[in-house]
Amino acid sequence: MGRAKGSFAAAVVHWQASHGRNDLPWQNTQDPYRVWLSEIMLQQTQVVTVREYFARFLNRCPDVQALAAASLDDVLGLWSGLGYYTRARNLHRCAQQVVAEFGGEFPRSAELLQTLPGIGRSTAAAISSLCFGERVAILDANVKRVVTRVQGFDADVAKAANERKLWEVATALIPTAAEAKDARAMQRYTQGMMDLGATVCLPKKPLCLLCPVQPQCVAAAQGQPEKYPVRTRTLKRSSQSIWLLWARRKDGAVWLSKRPTPGVWAGLYCLPLMDSEDALQAALPRKLHSAVTALPMVLHVLTHKDLYLHPRVVDYPASASVDDSGQWFLPEQWRAAGLPAPIRKLLEQGADA
Ligand code: ADE
Ligand code: SF4
Repeated sequence: MGRAKGSFAAAVVHWQASHGRNDLPWQNTQDPYRVWLSEIMLQQTQVVTVREYFARFLNRCPDVQALAAASLDDVLGLWSGLGYYTRARNLHRCAQQVVAEFGGEFPRSAELLQTLPGIGRSTAAAISSLCFGERVAILDANVKRVVTRVQGFDADVAKAANERKLWEVATALIPTAAEAKDARAMQRYTQGMMDLGATVCLPKKPLCLLCPVQPQCVAAAQGQPEKYPVRTRTLKRSSQSIWLLWARRKDGAVWLSKRPTPGVWAGLYCLPLMDSEDALQAALPRKLHSAVTALPMVLHVLTHKDLYLHPRVVDYPASASVDDSGQWFLPEQWRAAGLPAPIRKLLEQGADA
């Protein structure tokens, strides 16, 4: 209130140039392939981790054609350790669609980008504003925090109708057409909103004294920024216990099979999974029943579920098969395969032991 429209965006743009992050590997490029790849990786993974994966991924798949031509197994292998593998499957499908339907060029509007697999409204807007200067708002979790606080938006953002309203609020804050005449303005604004959320407007104890929009921030004026965003509905979490049959041979090979789609770790290579200790025993030849070694339980936290993993090591004779669906993987083979992160960690520990 009381401030000229556009001053919010101008403050963010100005701040980004001097205080934002400007040397990340996916910045200083308008290449939509790089920006898209980084945005997908950054959806659920920290910047430090993404840096490493981003470089390795680009090395193997330098452009959208190379990614489209790669096998899904190769892509899952490159993604291995980043988690949330639906992202990797969508990434691969998206690349194939860009090549097949858009002649290998990413579409230049958020509206069209949104039609591609794995690209939601916010990611589409991030790509089109960062690469093409399109005047569209982003609204990822960090930006939601900034927008709800600045505006004192106190409706429950878990409700779809309120979320739609918040998109309108976010859209009203972007640079005006006149402000966006400067070709870098939208780029700086989008990056600036992400940077504010990640470095200043923190979930706990936001650094309001350093914030460029503090003079117009409702939450700061109220003295209770942490009240926002308001979110009443909570995720119902479930848990599941899984027994892992870790069959290994003297030469270091382990038995892995591909997980069915859909389901936990779909499409990845994994130790055979069992629902109980009894089921695991039943899957073994009688003479191996006494050869089972129990390792300590491992907790693996997924978005909606806690997995309690119970690894059971069994030394197998060289000639045997474990089931109909898998095969033996030597250490250099499983290291290169797409494995769930906790399985990879277990196997690495086992290989070191
Ligand atoms: N998180 C999501 N997108 C990002 C970006 N472009 N830079 C830094 N962190 C991000
Ligand atoms: Fe966030 Fe504080 Fe800035 Fe408001 S003033 S946007 S609460 S950091």
